[in-house]
Amino acid sequence: MDASTNTGHGRKTEACEIPFRGIHHLALTTDNMKMTTEFYVNVLGMPLVHAMKVPEGVGINENRGNPPYECIRHYFFDMGNDSLWAFFEIPKGEKPKTDRDALGGMQHVAFAVTKDEFDAIQHRLTDQNLEFDGPVEILPGIFSIYFYDPNDIRLEACCKPSERGHQNVVESVTQTKAVAIRELRTLSTDDNWLDSVTENLE
Ligand SMILES: [Fe+2]
Repeated sequence: MDASTNTGHGRKTEACEIPFRGIHHLALTTDNMKMTTEFYVNVLGMPLVHAMKVPEGVGINENRGNPPYECIRHYFFDMGNDSLWAFFEIPKGEKPKTDRDALGGMQHVAFAVTKDEFDAIQHRLTDQNLEFDGPVEILPGIFSIYFYDPNDIRLEACCKPSERGHQNVVESVTQTKAVAIRELRTLSTDDNWLDSVTENLE
């Protein structure tokens, strides 16, 4: 990413006007809940807050869109900022490993961390002999490391060291309308459409 991305600019929409506050819970899959629990609690430092089994039955009225297995484990971890990181334990051998680049797949998840936590995670991964790539400067002033959880889920810890505590994630990547439109013109040359999708930008 070069300086032409021109980030850190203003926008017109106030956070309180966005219909979503953020993630309530993200639900992922494993076939080994014990190994997964150890990684998220002990290595990443996400406390376990809820351990349960899903109800019997596989219809929408019984298990509410969960995987089509009865009574499987469903655990929740606190990923900070009032959001939950959750897993279902799929019975071993029932499903193939996913391809994170498949259409509709989850390519990776990046956690926002403070500088202190960015350093601490690297130490904890090293202590456990777990490999990570980076730190890499992914945008001007923003650094990331990349690693895998025990289920081969690609994770990223992302940090803007110049911020104290709160990371101002959205503000630090917000472009000007002009810069965004330069890219968006590769999708459409319809000026009405370009205006409509960049209404928020200044
Ligand atoms: Fe990323």
